[in-house]
Amino acid sequence: MTSVPTQHARVLSGMRPTGRLHLGHYHGVLKNWLELQHEYECFFFVADWHALTTHYEDPSLIPTHTREMVIDWLAAGINPSLATLFVQSRVPEHAELHLLLSMITPLGWLERVPTYKDQQERLKERDLSTYGFLGYPLLQSADILIYKAGLVPVGEDQVAHVELTREVARRFNHLFGREPDFAIKAEEAKRRMGKKNARLFDGLRRRYQEQGDQEALEVARALLEEQTNLTVSDRERLFGYLEGSGRVILPEPQALLTKASRMPGLDGQKMSKSYHNTIALRDPPAEVERALRTMPTDPARVRRTDPGDPERCPVWQFHQVYSSESTRAWVQNGCRSAGIGCLECKRPIIDAVLAELIPIQERARDYESQPDLVRSILNEGCEKARAVARETLEEVRHAMALGVS
Ligand code: TRP
Ligand code: SF4
Repeated sequence: MTSVPTQHARVLSGMRPTGRLHLGHYHGVLKNWLELQHEYECFFFVADWHALTTHYEDPSLIPTHTREMVIDWLAAGINPSLATLFVQSRVPEHAELHLLLSMITPLGWLERVPTYKDQQERLKERDLSTYGFLGYPLLQSADILIYKAGLVPVGEDQVAHVELTREVARRFNHLFGREPDFAIKAEEAKRRMGKKNARLFDGLRRRYQEQGDQEALEVARALLEEQTNLTVSDRERLFGYLEGSGRVILPEPQALLTKASRMPGLDGQKMSKSYHNTIALRDPPAEVERALRTMPTDPARVRRTDPGDPERCPVWQFHQVYSSESTRAWVQNGCRSAGIGCLECKRPIIDAVLAELIPIQERARDYESQPDLVRSILNEGCEKARAVARETLEEVRHAMALGVS
């Protein structure tokens, strides 16, 4: 276990450029990001290279999709002064790390990633027997490790990729974090913290190594984090020394599993563009209202006097996302007794969805009218991301004896 202590963790997550986002994205991903940006140092990026791993024949829409998606992030409330927003292909350091990691990644690890076979089956119409597609989870590992991210918010389908990332990091540290005189160097580094801290470190390290005391590990890490007179490599040595291995150059990230969104589509299936059942964040209110008014209900309710069953009705799923306990009770009783009509039942949903969209659409208009602002947010984000990425890459190159002559 050579993971990042949670309280200092960076958060990294990426989304493929799909263009305008819908309520499914908002409830499934963005609301989560909104919370994280207040708690951690967050990096959110547009995974445009990832889009190419499956949709390489026609990249012409990627720029527009990138732009529109970033506007929706901002409109949803992602705050560029809290979180760093950037575009993957503008931080070429990801690609170099991907290349270097590819040298030590066994083919079998990639072939065994569940999405590999799944996606090939699901996207039969595309030729996915490419090198890029096989390597895409490793590209994702590079995305994560280049920021030494500790937490990676992802959906269920991506957990295996974070797991692969952990294995690759472990292998990397094992191969390149070993130094012949590791213990001697670690002891020297320890002394640089001063007598008192060195003694404290020894005690905590012993408590962790002899008794598996997790708290001691956390305290010791915090102690290292506080030291201002340690070099990066000394700190890495001491992090590794704490746990007895070698230097930790690439710490292992943890997946932060995003609960599956309960946001249904207009037909009750999962909301997804490919099902044509979405409400986009920037759909005009009149259109949103029309879509909700005409969405299907329990087919048993042919006439107003026919009782229904909310369990068979997509509108009920919306109530589960948007309505209070008392409104839900009103729906249950009213539907089963035919006491309310379906339009009446939809009213609170229409109101809630519109209320949710108003501030989002206001902000979106703001950003739409200032293309230069969006551009400069991304420019700044890319610069900030590159600065961090460069630092990691420096260490990686050094550990792999590259560029040292
Ligand atoms: N692969 C992710 C997806 O398809 C997107 C992604 C790329 C990502 N790199 C990442 C997510 C790094 C989290 C961390 O949805
Ligand atoms: Fe669905 Fe509400 Fe109509 Fe019942 S009353 S069928 S829950 S819309």
